[in-house]
Amino acid sequence: MRVLVSDKIAKEGIEILRSELEVDVKTDLSPEQLKEIIKDYDALVVRSQTKVTRDLIEASNLKVIGRAGVGVDNIDVEAATLKGILVVNAPEGNTIAACEHTFALMFALARKIPQAVSSLKGGRWERNKFTGVQLSGKTLGIVGLGRIGKEVAKRATSLGMNVVGYDPYISAENVENLNVKLADLEEVLAVSDFLTFHVPLTKNTRHMVGEEQFRIMKDGVYLINCARGGIIDEKALYDALLSGKVAGCALDVFEKEPPEGSPLLSLDNVIATPHLGASTAEAQIVVAEEVARDILRALKGEMVKNPVNMVSIRSEEYSFILPYIKLAEKMGCLYTQLKNGRLLEVEMTYGGRLANMDVKLITTAGIKGLLSHILQSPANLINAPIIARDRGIKITERKIREDGDAPGTVTMKVRTDRETGTISGCVFEKDNPRITGIDDYKIDLIPEGYVLITNHRDKPGIVGKVGTILGENQINIASMQLGRRSYRGDALMALSVDEEIPEEVLKELKAIEDIKKVLFVKL
Ligand code: NAD
Ligand code: MLT
Repeated sequence: MRVLVSDKIAKEGIEILRSELEVDVKTDLSPEQLKEIIKDYDALVVRSQTKVTRDLIEASNLKVIGRAGVGVDNIDVEAATLKGILVVNAPEGNTIAACEHTFALMFALARKIPQAVSSLKGGRWERNKFTGVQLSGKTLGIVGLGRIGKEVAKRATSLGMNVVGYDPYISAENVENLNVKLADLEEVLAVSDFLTFHVPLTKNTRHMVGEEQFRIMKDGVYLINCARGGIIDEKALYDALLSGKVAGCALDVFEKEPPEGSPLLSLDNVIATPHLGASTAEAQIVVAEEVARDILRALKGEMVKNPVNMVSIRSEEYSFILPYIKLAEKMGCLYTQLKNGRLLEVEMTYGGRLANMDVKLITTAGIKGLLSHILQSPANLINAPIIARDRGIKITERKIREDGDAPGTVTMKVRTDRETGTISGCVFEKDNPRITGIDDYKIDLIPEGYVLITNHRDKPGIVGKVGTILGENQINIASMQLGRRSYRGDALMALSVDEEIPEEVLKELKAIEDIKKVLFVKL
């Protein structure tokens, strides 16, 4: 397995990668050079400089893309997802660094530190020119109260600032202990003396501050953007700085980086740093190590800690859920080999302890299994939900909570345009998965290897005839399960066998009187 590291990351991360993989560090490649070599790599590690475009992704054979940092706006995650490429990031390692940089900028802005330093170094002693403003007693508006926004809020109150915040995706309980007054964006813009932004750059947040929003703000407001360029419309910001509406602005990030020729940099009331929010020695080591460990996990097919385009599992539920992920995939795989028709609807029902857990990844694994014998390039846990959506397959989850202490049970009910069927499963003890039902037949099948399934009439002699034919053809039976609807009614037999059953033997089995259906599946 080969990894390309195309932006500079801490050596501690590279060492982790090198402990198990072949690693090339090639920074400052042009998009063309990167595209030329990308097909030779299984993993790509970037910071914010490399643009991982759809074009690059399509030219690649990547299995995983790692972002040493939090923002993934430089990666076309949708294109990666469609191609089944896992994207991982390191979201927590630089939270404090970005928060502290926000305050570094806020203090510098309030006290005109960069301008004063440069004046003094230029040989001047201009004490009156650099009178600043106090932070204590001022209102700080925080837009985006995620990891960084919350840390900023904590520190701002201890500086004596009043904090108002806008984040439509969090609840009041989420910021309960932070002394933050939640308000809508207009109110936050209207009451703040300082405004700081901590949202991701998305379709909704691009230019969320423009001409109209500047009009709402107080005259002489100060702005800090240590999140992403593009959140504030730079053209409107320039006008607001020129008119004095905005007294000063501190930028760590720009719509185009580096911001060559940006008129903002010519203004005295703009201070700026070259995207340094995460640049502390401590943060860079943590994010490089975090992303490197996830790259190793991903390439070994293990669950990763920080997936961006796959549902994650809570660490305390990880070992319980993992065998169900494997089971659900086998259930889907069995279903597609047993039944016919175009998949229309899948209902996953969870009982026992699973009913109280986040089971999305189990559902995704079931869908992956269902699609496994249908597609040219197999679905994976990343792209299965998208493929299902694009094929118009309706997916629902149900939870039965009465038996919360029982081991988890999973039932997959599938409707195709020709029939409806169910497969049920359970994991006994530790990591001992079983298929416990096919339609209304109760069985106890280990979902592994070669399985012969017959539908026949429950009468003496059938099992013997099947065993004889298999024996005559040197096919060893490992285990046998029988389920029946009623005495002498319809029955189902599931035989685990050690060898693949050739087509002519299956024909012989199908010819047995009272056998209605013979299916041979691989799990
Ligand atoms: P996070 O995901 O923990 O928090 C983002 C918050 O923004 C979430 O709470 C979300 O609900 C909120 N949000 C999303 N859309 C919103 C909208 N339209 N309006 C208001 N709130 C909205 O992310 P984080 O780790 O706190 O990072 C925040 C930002 O900082 C990201 O853009 C990240 O890329 C950037 N960042 C920059 C640097 C740097 O070097 N300058 C370093 C680290 C992070
Ligand atoms: C991030 O999103 O983590 C920051 O942009 C940090 C960085 O990688 O520079």
